[in-house]
Amino acid sequence: MVTLPLGDGRLMPQLGLGLWRTTDAEAAGLVRTAIDAGYRLVDTAAAYGNERGVGEGVRSAEAGSAVFVTTKLWNDDQGYDRTLRAFDESLRRLGLPVVDLYLIHWPAPARGLYVASWRALVRLKAEGRARSIGVSNFAPQHLRRIIGETGESPVVNQVELHPWYQQRALRAVNAHLGVRTQSWSPLGQGRLLSDPIICRIATRHGRTPAQVIIRWHLEHGLIVIPKSANPDRIRENIGVLDFRLAPDDLVAIAGLDRADGRIGPDPVTLSL
Ligand code: A2P
Repeated sequence: MVTLPLGDGRLMPQLGLGLWRTTDAEAAGLVRTAIDAGYRLVDTAAAYGNERGVGEGVRSAEAGSAVFVTTKLWNDDQGYDRTLRAFDESLRRLGLPVVDLYLIHWPAPARGLYVASWRALVRLKAEGRARSIGVSNFAPQHLRRIIGETGESPVVNQVELHPWYQQRALRAVNAHLGVRTQSWSPLGQGRLLSDPIICRIATRHGRTPAQVIIRWHLEHGLIVIPKSANPDRIRENIGVLDFRLAPDDLVAIAGLDRADGRIGPDPVTLSL
């Protein structure tokens, strides 16, 4: 599995399994399938309600100890003390002594607690219980604020990102701040798979539309976590390490970016 160096010196697999909208009951089997297929990164969250299944899948696999596990702090648990407690609960559900990466799931700016939550993550990292720490859905002003107030940079900012919503400006800010960009809903929640330009490129390479899109993320240096609850598609999605998109493919996909391409909520106004 190809890895990327993070700002804290650790390595992170660049392609992993996303587990949003996967039930706790199915998660263990899917994680196991993914690890057997060569995945070394799984991405869950307290809010997904499947940390127990994800942990079970990781622990049951022979290669489980080599798997990079990410989970996330839910908005209701923001604040310094609550974050520390929520982290303990996540570890307990996962059945793991540490996680590789702990993220603040949303800045939830209306709550005014993301800086206090970030301070708790800094402590968890110092204690070695979260090997790396990062954020999700942070806009540039949120990133600058936590870095300015604590001196500690997140290693990752995980945001909605796919060919219809390419986030060029945010990617540039992340890069400038030494923060890796990670793509959630990398396939546009499956909607991009019937895009005619993606399909045309896929046909030319003898690949599937999903493989073309995942390849696009990898070639842009993005960390990508396609979700699938189907074993065959989980295997299909990792079958991308033996081809490259051509320069004119990249130009064609660059042209798919749309002003109205965002599918999920706007993190700046989301008041969950
Ligand atoms: P399924 O779970 O039934 O495989 P995203 O990661 O952008 O959120 O996209 C996830 C969606 O894309 C899910 O609906 C998933 O369905 C679908 N999907 C994931 N991989 C593939 C694939 N290789 N081919 C077709 N659909 C896929």
